[in-house]
Amino acid sequence: MSPPRTVTIFSPAKINLFLAVTGRRSDGYHDLVSVVAPLDFGDVLTAETGGDGLEARNWKAERGERRPEDGAQFSLVCDNSEVPVDGSNLVLKAAEAFAGATGWKKRVLFRLTKRIPVGSGMGGGSSNATAALLALNELGGANLGRVELAALAAGVGSDCPLFLEGGPVIMRGRGERIEPLHEAAARRLRGRVVLVFKPSIGVSTAWAYERIAAGAPQSYLPVVEAERRIASWVAGDADAAELLFNNLEPVVFGKFLALPVLLNFLRRRFGLASRMSGSGSACFALLPDEAHVQEIIAAIREAWGPACFVQTTAIAQRDATPRFTAL
Ligand code: C5P
Repeated sequence: MSPPRTVTIFSPAKINLFLAVTGRRSDGYHDLVSVVAPLDFGDVLTAETGGDGLEARNWKAERGERRPEDGAQFSLVCDNSEVPVDGSNLVLKAAEAFAGATGWKKRVLFRLTKRIPVGSGMGGGSSNATAALLALNELGGANLGRVELAALAAGVGSDCPLFLEGGPVIMRGRGERIEPLHEAAARRLRGRVVLVFKPSIGVSTAWAYERIAAGAPQSYLPVVEAERRIASWVAGDADAAELLFNNLEPVVFGKFLALPVLLNFLRRRFGLASRMSGSGSACFALLPDEAHVQEIIAAIREAWGPACFVQTTAIAQRDATPRFTAL
């Protein structure tokens, strides 16, 4: 059977329910211990190879999308003009890494339908990169196994490997060591309804990590303590709310005051368990069944302005891989 010509793949957002930055490494990155879960909300990436339909110029004319670089093996169009479509985009970085590892020579056009806000700590770019690896592997006849894909993903970005799993994981190292969350614990997270919201400003991940390093060593949570907290939550039967932690919050909140002001208000007014995700600026709240969602959304828009991003979604229900539509 010849491999498919077009592959469409869902590229989920993530939230860090628990994020402990535990120390700085000799390579300049930080070690962390994090419980991360993919959401039902995300982007869609299509990869198309072969045939005349690959002429990027025609695509732009037909779809009204941005013009990709001419002549390159890989090109990218995106419906959101905030998203760079040059070599700095992780989709193209991942594609180059895939070509380097496999000798893949065909031209591929990626089309990205972007819904995850940029600079939000929801892993959009990393998720897109992993989706590109999975899409190319599918187009190329699935030559790479999980271990090789994970190694490629880790080389593209710290948050990429976690998206190879379809469910909640514990992430360690700088992000490359991934362990699926114990089934009984994962069940306490899957399907959990969450509200994600982000002000119009974004936070640079590199900046957030620089700031936590500047406050070292007090700003780090010792790795033993991070592991103890996760193990205790996993072994017990406490609600997801009891797991929430993020020690990047103090450094980000010190500059972006609108974040703690709103999170404190949501806790006081609605009793919501809420946290910042990753390095921000997106935050999330776990919604109880009886939550007054519209009232909560109105309060968020009141605090952060009508243009802020607000999305009701859920922690991904089932193993989301494979998540292809092949044409
Ligand atoms: O790996 P990625 O490109 O997503 O990371 C962006 C930046 O965030 C890195 O350049 C680094 O400064 C910081 N970072 C870190 N430790 C991590 C992940 C990211 O210091 N585990």
